[in-house]
Amino acid sequence: MSSTRTRRTFLAELGKSGAALAATPWLGRIGYAAARTGPARAVLNQARYRSELDRRLLGAFLEHLGRAIYTGVYEPGSPLADASGFRTDVIGQVKELNVPIMRYPGGNFVSGYNWLDGVGPKDKRPTVLERAWNSLETNQFGTNEFIDWCKLVNTEPLLGFNLGTGTPEMAVAYVEYCNLDKGTRWSDLRRSHGYEQPHGVRYWCLGNEMDGPWQMGHMTAREYGRKARDTARQIRVIDRDLQLIACGSSNTILPTYLVWDREVLEECYDQVDGISLHNYYGNTPELTGNSSARYLAMNLDMERQILEIAAVCDYVQGLRKSQKRLWLSFDEWNVWYRARTGAHMDGKRAFAPRLLEEVYNLEDALLVGGFLNSLLRQSERVRVGCLAQIVNVIAPLMTSDTAVLRQSIFYPYLWALQYARGRVLDLAVESETYPISADGLQADFARDDQVPYIDVVATLDPQNGQAALLMLNRDLQAERELVIEWRDPTPTRVLACQTLTGADLKAFNTFEQPDLVAPRALDAPAASARMTFKLPRQSYTVAHLATR
Ligand code: AHR
Repeated sequence: MSSTRTRRTFLAELGKSGAALAATPWLGRIGYAAARTGPARAVLNQARYRSELDRRLLGAFLEHLGRAIYTGVYEPGSPLADASGFRTDVIGQVKELNVPIMRYPGGNFVSGYNWLDGVGPKDKRPTVLERAWNSLETNQFGTNEFIDWCKLVNTEPLLGFNLGTGTPEMAVAYVEYCNLDKGTRWSDLRRSHGYEQPHGVRYWCLGNEMDGPWQMGHMTAREYGRKARDTARQIRVIDRDLQLIACGSSNTILPTYLVWDREVLEECYDQVDGISLHNYYGNTPELTGNSSARYLAMNLDMERQILEIAAVCDYVQGLRKSQKRLWLSFDEWNVWYRARTGAHMDGKRAFAPRLLEEVYNLEDALLVGGFLNSLLRQSERVRVGCLAQIVNVIAPLMTSDTAVLRQSIFYPYLWALQYARGRVLDLAVESETYPISADGLQADFARDDQVPYIDVVATLDPQNGQAALLMLNRDLQAERELVIEWRDPTPTRVLACQTLTGADLKAFNTFEQPDLVAPRALDAPAASARMTFKLPRQSYTVAHLATR
């Protein structure tokens, strides 16, 4: 090297090429190859699939928080309520979504919850100060009401234990109350409350976000791991086949990320079935530099988190020489950043205060589509997933006294629930990419990377031969073509094709203008072995196809 300047330039370029090389394997791990120019391409073959889809991947979450339960789900006295006090308009929407599993009762709420307060005669239930959100909790809605509501909306309950202020003994009593037939203290108590048949709850969360300093009863990973182990062991006496989910890291930001998961699993690997992941995303100066292009790539951050937590599970499996492979439960995920400070977080000792009422715009909906694609792509490992939450609190649905509103994020979620069925195919995708830069961003979201303009997943249901394509076009400037090459089978008919798009990424729905961000029909190519979709700029599109 003849001069220092040349040497510096050389080293800088070496650094850049290192980043480019590092980016390529990341794309490879999610089934992508970068194409230089031209249309994106995906090759499909039914013999190559990633997973048999467990629809629990597409669940949701209902917490005693703000207006989620009270005035969201339960509002006796409202003209919209049924005889039990449940909002019928909300029931209608949740039923239409066809949500497979619903996590309850929290969230941070669960870590201070005494489930006994919420069962039995309503006039005997105490009003308490709820300490996670500083709100008044009347306990007029509790476990039995939740189970009744689940039946009405046709969803499976996923219940959580209080492992914060609560004891293993009361957690086990909760299982006994819910699931044992009769002849014991807690099962007979349920019967005395008018529920003769056991609820038969199969999936349970061993606490919530116990790694978080904000959590009631927060403890170290080792302490939590032992408490979870003790609780799980006692529960197995009642039913050894229940599916138990340990608390994993509640985001990627805490300094304990991954270490927490390893230490917890070193304590309780043999007793649990899955581990939880949580994360919330936003278009903020710290996370994205307010860049919508970077924002729409955040589902790849979710995917990286999944791969990292899976690696920790596999590490502990190896350490323990265990036969058992844990699955992941991404049981809180969504966009959440505007209603996340000050008054949005403090209930000020009010009943059903307006908390976490995030208003979702078009770009949020596109990213939610991306998250759904990522979850589907990783569905071989992620068995359970919960969009957080379902109504009023960071939710696809919002209620007023007289109506329920579909927020923008409702639509990608609806499409995944309606159309993603059967097997998630293992696609070979090529797409032109755009660069994203780490400069100035918060460490865990800072990436020098290449992001495919097109993000696509496909499912095929072997029962009825119907296929679904879920396609995100991250290009903010131009329509992009996606060529789908069907090796086997060949589509025979397009059953539906719809897109969510618009000129204004920041547009959102209101009760006055409920359809500002809503799907519209998209011209689909004729069904054949090679189909070219023209995806509008900044759009999320679904195509539903018959192959028989
Ligand atoms: O979903 C809102 C809150 O986010 C939950 O209560 C908590 O688990 C998470 O931090």
